[in-house]
Amino acid sequence: MKCRFESTMSAPKAFYITTPIYYVNDVPHIGHAYTTLACDVLARFKRLDGFDVKFLTGTDEHGQKVEKAAALAGVTPQQFTDRVSKNFFDLRETMNFSTDDFIRTTEPRHAAACQALWKRMEEKGHIYLGSYAGWYAVRDEAFYDEDELTAGPNGKKIAPTGAECEWVEEPSYFFRLSAWAEPLLEFYAAHPDFIAPASRRNEVVSFVKGGLRDLSISRTTFDWGVPVPGDEDHIMYVWLDALTNYITAVGYPDTENEQYKRYWPADLHVIGKDILRFHTVYWPAFLLAAGLPTPKRVFAHGWWTIEGQKMSKSLGNAVAPDHLVTTYGLDASRYFLLREVPFGNDGDFSHASIVHRTNGDLANDLGNLVQRVLSMIAKNCGGVVPTPGAFSDADKALLATAHGMLDRVRAEFDVLAFHKGLEAIWGLCGDANRYVDEQAPWTLRKTDPARMATVLYVLAEAIRHIGILVQPVMPEASIKILDQLALGPEARGFGALGPEGALAAGTALPAPSGVFPRYVEPEAAS
Ligand code: MSP
Repeated sequence: MKCRFESTMSAPKAFYITTPIYYVNDVPHIGHAYTTLACDVLARFKRLDGFDVKFLTGTDEHGQKVEKAAALAGVTPQQFTDRVSKNFFDLRETMNFSTDDFIRTTEPRHAAACQALWKRMEEKGHIYLGSYAGWYAVRDEAFYDEDELTAGPNGKKIAPTGAECEWVEEPSYFFRLSAWAEPLLEFYAAHPDFIAPASRRNEVVSFVKGGLRDLSISRTTFDWGVPVPGDEDHIMYVWLDALTNYITAVGYPDTENEQYKRYWPADLHVIGKDILRFHTVYWPAFLLAAGLPTPKRVFAHGWWTIEGQKMSKSLGNAVAPDHLVTTYGLDASRYFLLREVPFGNDGDFSHASIVHRTNGDLANDLGNLVQRVLSMIAKNCGGVVPTPGAFSDADKALLATAHGMLDRVRAEFDVLAFHKGLEAIWGLCGDANRYVDEQAPWTLRKTDPARMATVLYVLAEAIRHIGILVQPVMPEASIKILDQLALGPEARGFGALGPEGALAAGTALPAPSGVFPRYVEPEAAS
């Protein structure tokens, strides 16, 4: 089993992965942490698999929504965005995200990229000046057609997303999106993996088949945004500004710089299902119009509800990442979010389900396995990796499952089926637990110590594989596991998986300690 870097024997392959950039009108909640978590897990996985990764996240700081939130808070938009952007930046610490870059759309590097992209589209004849009269939802920062709206209370017009719309009438630059329906359909056909999951792809294809209208891409009635080059009465539509972040971060407009050449086009934009159209219709159309390469894949995940209810400000039920981590622990939270619900589907977060996962999968299945095996080695093998004898069929079967695990997990993670990848690893945990019970090393201690040593060695090897493979999802617990196997940093990459990296008999191991505490209800604990 080889990691990708080793198998190609050339420079590591680049992998550029991005999260959406978050609106700074609100504090982060579990939904925001979820998108970045999925990217973090993939970024970590790819690094361990030998890729040269760039992992980008950041904040979307312009637009009417942010301007309004700042006014409500009684501060300037810049003061407001400085404050709220930091909350998102701090998620890196709270959730242990391994981001390589954090972009803020108020940075000068970003204005330069937006204006360069605009000019390029304009020069190629894709932008014209007109005037917009229609409906706009500030909450979504999106335009809607009359026939998409329903009547709300007090004669208000409501978008399909539930957002309130207002009538907007102002001079505006337009992007000739109407001309892009056919080219986009050809593009989707030529790149069947561009939109995932497949259900989302079908949704987008049928939307585009319905025809596209030109898109208003500038506003004049407020000024919190990037000025349109050559016409400073206008600021750019916040979605054009926001989407551009993905190329700003690799140095655009300097397309000759190392980062751009290395990382663009991005390998993967991970987004929520609510912002699919922006990423799969507008974004590729802008890039194609500018003659720039398009990202390779956009994956839209589902939404979380909390205890069966939509997360909302009015219900006050949003779960803050801080709360999640202090209540359940960092790794348990990370594991739960990716194991509980297939990525792409909607899911429900409940206290009962995270406790069930924490105590079942983590404390019982994995935690007990590690604890049992390492304590037996400490007590019965003088605290060193035991020396194995010849392997029985049962030993070989468990080792073969461990050795084949990277290929299985990689295949699942490559299509963002995190739950299936984790299920496969936990299948190995289950096999190892059954093997302990069947082999009963505690009995062998008296009857056949040499066989006991072999059994404990095989189990330590299974644990080594599990410890290495869970690193992307559980960065803290995996350190505890791998430390207890006395593995150095060079022995933790995916290149160390398989028989080549096998534990060396006789290696001294540190005293074992628990890896996953059980979750105990506070009232039961006191
Ligand atoms: N600023 C835009 C994105 C611009 S990207 C060029 C935006 N920001 S957001 O802060 O509103 O949302 C960011 C992400 O959080 C989206 O992918 C969205 O799907 C995700 N989530 C927000 N609430 C969520 C849940 N309740 N559940 C899961 N994800 C959710 O849109």
